[in-house]
Amino acid sequence: MKMVKSIRQMRKWAEGQRRRGATIGFVPTMGALHEGHLSLMRTARKRCDAVVVSIFVNPAQFGPNEDYTRYPRDPRGDSALCRSEKVDVLFMPTAGAIYPEGHKTQILVGRIGEVLEGTFRPGHFSGVATVVDKLFQIVHPDVAFFGQKDYQQTVVIKQMARDLNLPVKIVVCPTVREPDGLAMSSRNRYLSAVERNASRALFKALKKGRERIQQGEREAAAVRDAMVASIQEQPLARIDYAAIADPVTLREVARIEGPVVLLLAVWIGGTRLIDNLRVRS
Ligand code: PAJ
Repeated sequence: MKMVKSIRQMRKWAEGQRRRGATIGFVPTMGALHEGHLSLMRTARKRCDAVVVSIFVNPAQFGPNEDYTRYPRDPRGDSALCRSEKVDVLFMPTAGAIYPEGHKTQILVGRIGEVLEGTFRPGHFSGVATVVDKLFQIVHPDVAFFGQKDYQQTVVIKQMARDLNLPVKIVVCPTVREPDGLAMSSRNRYLSAVERNASRALFKALKKGRERIQQGEREAAAVRDAMVASIQEQPLARIDYAAIADPVTLREVARIEGPVVLLLAVWIGGTRLIDNLRVRS
């Protein structure tokens, strides 16, 4: 596995691959890798000739009071995992290389980046879109892989790729969960044993919502109430939002008349967790 820090070197390698006619699969991450990330790498490995993983904790997508400085970082463990997944290049640029003095340009994705997560994390998706576009310009992937775990992020990236005519196919891979249903996340490392137990509340509530829909409930408010009540059984949980939305536009629906996505953001103690479930009615 090649370890690359410089943008110039990354570009040069990517150009070499393209000249040989090899397809490049790309998995952007912020590190502290877990099975969710590894599942993206495995899918990329199957579908593309060469696989690039990036690890970059992107300051632009963290709010001023968020966890940028304490976000878990484990470059040694991460590179061992990438190696065992037969990744070809691990790209780990510095913040100074990605955002040199004088960097100004930002990508705005409009309404889709301002609802749900965007309400609670203003500027977050602009930070995500900007860094992902920059990484695409450097790595030049044919296919880029994202997890359904961050549902709104996948919608934002698809919108950006379409709007900016980016020559990259966006593939969304299923959420990988712990045996008790908790969606894997680098932030799960923040949870104490008691909080870890309490965090099962998210998937439990999503399943409750799905069950109500499958039983024939068509009023989104009733499904939402059921999810909220389920979470409120857990005293350590505090809800940011519980929503039932159109899976493409992310507009919240009043009546459930086709496929929907149930989305949750919940604080468990001092850790903010998100999860979602797609449901066909
Ligand atoms: P990060 O949170 O490290 O996630 C990197 C990729 O792994 C994202 O596409 C995310 O959706 C996916 N992922 C995380 N947990 C997953 C799980 N349990 N199952 C399946 N996929 C999972 O998302 C980011 O980083 C950043 O916003 C990034 C796109 C790298 C831009 O900075």
